[in-house]
Amino acid sequence: MQMKSNIFLIGFMGAGKSTIARTMRDLYGMSLIEMDEQIEAQESRSISQIFAESGEAYFRSLETALLEGLEQTGNAVVSCGGGAAMRDENVAAMHRSGKIVYLSAAPETIYERVKDFHTRPLLEGHMNVAYIENLMAVRLPHYLKAADFTVETDGRSAEEICAGIVEKMRCDCY
Ligand code: S3P
Repeated sequence: MQMKSNIFLIGFMGAGKSTIARTMRDLYGMSLIEMDEQIEAQESRSISQIFAESGEAYFRSLETALLEGLEQTGNAVVSCGGGAAMRDENVAAMHRSGKIVYLSAAPETIYERVKDFHTRPLLEGHMNVAYIENLMAVRLPHYLKAADFTVETDGRSAEEICAGIVEKMRCDCY
């Protein structure tokens, strides 16, 4: 299937954006852009190092530059960092080149998916459901405002989630 425009997957850390993006690539032949990986490669250092050495604001400026640079790209599925939809200019850049899909997941589901990793500076020292719940409450209005549509991920397979995304894209009914 050819997607004329890009698909931007937004949502909280651990919502499944990377998994769904890879499955979209595998099932539908879209090209895959993993924002965090691309930023790490470009900077030759990990996200944790970028936060520690250059600060969050610097990281956020890299996210904006990356998204603004995608406007000539098509047929890509973009796994966005969990904070990418917090900036209006990022959301505007995404809307210019594609559709924005919010992948939702319950805080408990998120916790189970992220608890054994130490790659997310914002969760270091706060690895618990209450913290995730609070940060999600702050972010949720931004995710919902940015998204063309929402797809729930709790208890669903990657294939089911991808089929849901494609159906919505095809019928253009959201
Ligand atoms: C962040 C999410 C991370 C990464 C960085 C900041 C956030 O990406 O971009 O640690 O602000 O939510 P994932 O959502 O892929 O974990």
